[in-house]
Amino acid sequence: MTSSIFLTRVVLRNYRSIGYCDVRLGALTYLVGANGSGKSNFLDALHLVRDALTGSLDIALNERGGLSEVRRRSSGHPTNFGIRLEFVLRDGQHGHYAFNVGTLANRGYEVQNEECYVGGTELHGPYFGIERGQVKTSSEDFFPAVTSDRLALVALSGLKTFRPIFDALTGMGFYNLNPKVMREPQKPQDGRLLKPVGENIASVIGHLERSAPDALVQIQEYLQVVVPMIEGVERKQIGPMETLEFRQAMAGAKHPWRFTAQNMSDGTLRALGVLTALFQRNPDHAPTLIGIEEPETALHPAASRALREALNRAAKHTQIIVTSHSPDLMDDPDLDADTVRAVIAEGSETHIAPLDSGSQDAMKQHLFSAGELLRLNQLAPDPENILAQQRQVSLFGEIEP
Ligand SMILES: Nc1ncnc2c1ncn2[C@@H]1O[C@H](COP(=O)(O)OP(=O)(O)OP(=O)(O)O)[C@@H](O)[C@H]1O
Ligand SMILES: [Mg+2]
Repeated sequence: MTSSIFLTRVVLRNYRSIGYCDVRLGALTYLVGANGSGKSNFLDALHLVRDALTGSLDIALNERGGLSEVRRRSSGHPTNFGIRLEFVLRDGQHGHYAFNVGTLANRGYEVQNEECYVGGTELHGPYFGIERGQVKTSSEDFFPAVTSDRLALVALSGLKTFRPIFDALTGMGFYNLNPKVMREPQKPQDGRLLKPVGENIASVIGHLERSAPDALVQIQEYLQVVVPMIEGVERKQIGPMETLEFRQAMAGAKHPWRFTAQNMSDGTLRALGVLTALFQRNPDHAPTLIGIEEPETALHPAASRALREALNRAAKHTQIIVTSHSPDLMDDPDLDADTVRAVIAEGSETHIAPLDSGSQDAMKQHLFSAGELLRLNQLAPDPENILAQQRQVSLFGEIEP
């Protein structure tokens, strides 16, 4: 079986509270840290890449309140922010995509550098390098017009060579499920990829009923572990709108009772949202990476085990990043210490690193689970790793492995 890993490494510069970070990712990564430590900011950097490619950089920045909110606030000069993503495509080719964005004197912004290399800078695969709207290097004879206020990869997605990179980056999904939104009747829409707060979940369940019934069975099985009386869920049309309908076992009743999403509990809806995010499937555009914010929210601690199992299972076919500050979710003596990244804020600056050797040893020897360490406030990042990240300065070209 091929690995589910899509992003192998994420390097950020001055993105919100993150001054710098250089984070390796496996098939499943838990970003763990206190409130306000910067976990969501890390995921948001990846989300911004997706938003900037599916819509435009302008929309992606505006949705976040503009460049001034996105780049790191500091007492010194206004900072530019930068993102570098190293990836493996489904065909096994490695590459990276990087860009940085800075302010212009007249209060606008510009993409200062943008580059993409597949197969390394030895020029095996397609590549391009752009500086302030000028193409500096490229594998292509024909290059579409580029401007410094947009990401060139959007225009390049029209070329067959760059299409797989564009598809993979825009195939990342980010979730912070909202039961209130999931409860409302929804307009029928594209159900191929679940949207961020679950606003199209009825369409996604409908899509799975038709195209991947086995995935729906999997979702229902896990849901039943979390909420035992739920027997199933399906899409239901109501006039021009649609919603979810749950079948629920009732003592003494011959047939299960049916409830629409309107009547379901927060925890049930959130659990369904998380499971749908994890097991959604789409033959021609499967998600490449799934980022989920606090999947344990609104769930009973005893449901954590089923949730962890679902995360492990889903990570076999899709890369997963989870943010959490829940000791319950991390209370698993078998949780692999390598999957955990500790996130801390030190003087308003976020650091993200693997666990220090003390925490790793305690977990490997089963002295403490990650959850217990988290409760004791002892889940610490490796200081040497943080120092090493600081030394890595460039976002572009071949960088130290
Ligand atoms: N542009 C910015 N520059 C510097 N710091 C920022 C910027 N934008 C946000 N922050 C800081 O980021 C912090 C919030 O980070 P984030 O939302 O990632 O936390 P979190 O770890 O997800 O917390 P929670 O567990 O509560 O969700 C806030 O303290 C905020 O001040
Ligand atoms: Mg958060």
